[in-house]
Amino acid sequence: MNRHLLGLEYCSREEIESIIQTGFSFKEVLSRPIPKVPTLRGKTIVNLFFENSTRTRISFELAQKRLSADTVNFSVAGSSVAKGESLRDTIRNIEAMKIDMVVVRHKSPGVPCFLTECTDAVIINAGDGLHEHPTQGLLDIMTLQEKLGSVEGLKVVIVGDILHSRVARSNIYGLQKLGAKVALCGPPTLIPVKAEQWGVEIFYDIGDAIRWGDVLNILRIQLERQSAGLFPSRREYTQRFGVTLEKLRRVDKEITIMHPGPINRGLELEHDLADSEFSVILDQVTNGVALRMAVLYLKSGVPAQE
Ligand code: CP
Repeated sequence: MNRHLLGLEYCSREEIESIIQTGFSFKEVLSRPIPKVPTLRGKTIVNLFFENSTRTRISFELAQKRLSADTVNFSVAGSSVAKGESLRDTIRNIEAMKIDMVVVRHKSPGVPCFLTECTDAVIINAGDGLHEHPTQGLLDIMTLQEKLGSVEGLKVVIVGDILHSRVARSNIYGLQKLGAKVALCGPPTLIPVKAEQWGVEIFYDIGDAIRWGDVLNILRIQLERQSAGLFPSRREYTQRFGVTLEKLRRVDKEITIMHPGPINRGLELEHDLADSEFSVILDQVTNGVALRMAVLYLKSGVPAQE
């Protein structure tokens, strides 16, 4: 088991399975009348978010509280980063206050890895630029296992803005290690040039992708990063790659719809489909808390309870 969680690229199949299995145990804890355990009492965790987040941030905070850890939240706004303090100085000053773990989100790939060289605290990657979002990949796999059983042999299509997606990378590494088949679908401009080196199928037609897959994991079009004009218009993207109930009805099979959020409703995913019986989007969010409890517990070094 790795000491830190930097990305699913660096995790073995056994480590991924162990985290997800522990996630299911914590899901049972969350269903109790008092959904709290003393597992991380005495541990101090800093949430270091240099980028916006709703799901990941709240989910980590809730997971820490459910485990009885002491938590501190850091936001760039209002911190000394705004006065020019370096990342290394920020983390070393925080460490001087005696912390055990750091959950970090940053726009630059590699920041979690860099922090492992600046501090003795355990580092958990909550999303680093275009690199990885390992807890999202793990909670996505947990959600698929919960709904469909094993992911071995399952066909998962990741649809949309693969180019800018850390979620896509973590899903590809995690799913492939557990024996799933992965495909990508989107306009050629939103699929990385060397994507075929990941051992994935590539579709440029959403109909072909739907016929092939059991699961569609639909990514947010990252409108804030589209300044290069990577597709002609939102309307054309929706017509060609937007996932709708009408497109699903053309195939006669059960398809599971996932989305890591936040959703651009009506752009990459039809409004009604997001809330339909095909969708496990809110299950992903629910499982995120249990899965992050598992990561924090397994990385904390706290011995297993008898
Ligand atoms: N899925 C995800 O990372 O969402 P947030 O950006 O809201 O954390």
